Amino acid sequence: MLGSLIEVSRDWLGFYKNCADEYGDVVRVLLAHVPVYLVVHPRDIETVLVTNAAKFTKSEDYRALARVLGRGLLTSEGDFWKRQRGLIQPAFHRQSILSYAAVMTRAAGRMLDSWKEKSERNIHEDMMRVTLEIVGRCLYSAEVTDAAERVGHAMEVVTGRFIINASLAMLFRFDIPVRFALREWRAIRELNGIIGGIIRERRSSDQRREDLLDMLLRARDADGNPMSDTQLRDEVMTLFLAGHETTAIALSWACYLIARNPDIEAKLAEELQTVLGGRFPTPEDLPRLRYTEMVLKETMRLYPAVWGIGRRALEDCELGGYRVPAGSNVFILQWRTQRDARFFPDPDRFDPERWRDDPVRSGKIPRFAYFPFGGGPRVCVGASFAMMEATLLLAMIQQKFHLEIVPGHPIEIFASVTLRPKYGIRVIPHCRAAVKDTDRHLH
Ligand code: HEM
Repeated sequence: MLGSLIEVSRDWLGFYKNCADEYGDVVRVLLAHVPVYLVVHPRDIETVLVTNAAKFTKSEDYRALARVLGRGLLTSEGDFWKRQRGLIQPAFHRQSILSYAAVMTRAAGRMLDSWKEKSERNIHEDMMRVTLEIVGRCLYSAEVTDAAERVGHAMEVVTGRFIINASLAMLFRFDIPVRFALREWRAIRELNGIIGGIIRERRSSDQRREDLLDMLLRARDADGNPMSDTQLRDEVMTLFLAGHETTAIALSWACYLIARNPDIEAKLAEELQTVLGGRFPTPEDLPRLRYTEMVLKETMRLYPAVWGIGRRALEDCELGGYRVPAGSNVFILQWRTQRDARFFPDPDRFDPERWRDDPVRSGKIPRFAYFPFGGGPRVCVGASFAMMEATLLLAMIQQKFHLEIVPGHPIEIFASVTLRPKYGIRVIPHCRAAVKDTDRHLH
């Protein structure tokens, strides 16, 4: 009666990986009465995300995200989503993004200044805090450093319950009201309070800012109506959540993998010395920080911050030679496909050199063998923002510190909305060389 529900709930990642290893590119899994199709091959992933994107909506488990995010960009559909995407996308155009670089490096500089030589810390917590600050400052010109602790805690409560809520959303068509989960309800109320404060403060200020919040406040629909407070809250919350934890996780895993691979660390340090020579990076340096980018790409292959994407078929379709009936949920896992030996030889090995001659760009492997940011119309709106932020921050961290993983600290994966290090990543920083003070003043 329960199908594979118990096995899945014990270990989502392991279960789906084993299914694909054992049964191939399309696997039908029963979660109690609900069939889910696991789709592994890049060809079929492209069909779902790009070629036939109009024939799919987001899968039922996204309703668990909607409990927190409402009808923000990540969780909305149809014409409403299209309009919101059109409004939000300009904030992520190249020119806008370049102007965020100085905000990013300044925030990272402040963080690194606070690190003490040989004093143990949890790098995952550091990354969560700094990326939250960056999203707040870049998109809403808001100072959230003081609120970071509260936001972080509230986010942890809501994302910690994601797996339970996602499973319930898959199994039942109706939503269990959030007030029945007291801690979650309180956490959402806390987040609403913080975000409400940012929106209220801006509404009451006559100072015009050229940021995303201003664009959202000035937006009008076809009838000339502005966005409601609820809609604004949903978009601000979505970008806070989607825009900080993901990048924080990519950076945390990158630091972990670098610390575990001294040869790669040495190569990276050499690049940083040649390109930056101790100063802060700028957007002009990005094309020359090739190896830094390769390290990040390889990190996101092995530890994709977003480890899976779900869709629901709106009509009968065919995937990998199998009929998938209308209404079925389809799961696509970056976690599994990006570790497929058919596309990445010795797939579990951390090897940034794979990206020197990018095998996706040169057509050696299919486009959707690697898709940390998804693809098609619903591709991550913040992908370039995230790559720039991650590259700048990784360069700054690694230029200044060698990070030693605290011996004996357990490193385990926890698959929530994102692929978190379950117990964080505890490190001991060792100073390499001081960043020039003059550069700090330039920013
Ligand atoms: C390493 C960092 C990141 C990763 C791995 C990542 C990954 C993804 C993925 C896989 C999707 C597609 C989900 C789907 O198709 O259902 C997505 C969507 C989205 N991401 Fe990101 N993301 C990252 C950073 C960011 C940042 C920095 C922002 C914003 C500041 C952001 C905002 C969003 C939004 C709003 C969507 C929904 C887009 C839509 O449906 O139109 N993400 N992200």
